[in-house]
Amino acid sequence: MALRGWARTWAGGSVSTAVARLNARHPWSHNDWFHGWILANLPEQRRAALDVGCGQGGLVAALAPHFGRVVGNDADPAMAREAAARCRGAANVSVEDGAWTDVRGPFDLVTMVAVLHHLDVPTALAEVRELLAPGGRFLAVGLAQSQSVTDHVWDAASILTNPAIGFVLHPWPAREGVRPPPYPVREPTMTYDELHGHVTAAMPGATMRHRLAFRHTIEWTRPS
Ligand SMILES: C[S@@+](CC[C@H](N)C(=O)[O-])C[C@H]1O[C@@H](n2cnc3c(N)ncnc32)[C@H](O)[C@@H]1O
Repeated sequence: MALRGWARTWAGGSVSTAVARLNARHPWSHNDWFHGWILANLPEQRRAALDVGCGQGGLVAALAPHFGRVVGNDADPAMAREAAARCRGAANVSVEDGAWTDVRGPFDLVTMVAVLHHLDVPTALAEVRELLAPGGRFLAVGLAQSQSVTDHVWDAASILTNPAIGFVLHPWPAREGVRPPPYPVREPTMTYDELHGHVTAAMPGATMRHRLAFRHTIEWTRPS
């Protein structure tokens, strides 16, 4: 987080405050932005999908037309209730707040958007592998600590493009000001490289990439 931390305190914090105000005037969800990437990478078999840590249920709703059955799971009961209310009209959707590892599989798709850093990573990756059907796919969007030069270059690119993307996605200024996230959040503690090591050990052949919006993506298909 060095560059992100430095950007927050540079010039006594006044620059970061101005940038935060600018971003708040043109807000956009760094998580929802990746729903298009997920929908563009769905597996061939589409019987069942599981979205772990579904939050308000936006991705669950987006997956519903593409799968026979979609399960949303969130450890936070208030989030699970909100997601269930959002998907009330979709007969193939269920939302649960129990342990996601107890959900009955197998699944052709398991997704996690900004969730893996809330979990014990090696255990979670092993659980995903078990829940996936042969040929099933894991698509994750994540956050990590920045440590390497590459991490910092991507942070710099994200800092610069953040307001530009906001202008495009939300051209009319919002009046609410800076608002807290609508779901439980946690700072990532694992670096990108550490996470990459866990991912390639648990899921040989997985693709992990830096992305804008201070995120990375992970893609893995369980061998048939
Ligand atoms: C940063 S939010 C992301 C929410 C949603 N995926 C999105 O993109 O808007 C992380 C979510 O993971 C949930 N979460 C944290 N630990 C979890 C766990 N062990 N099982 C299920 N959900 C969990 C939190 O309650 C929270 O809703």
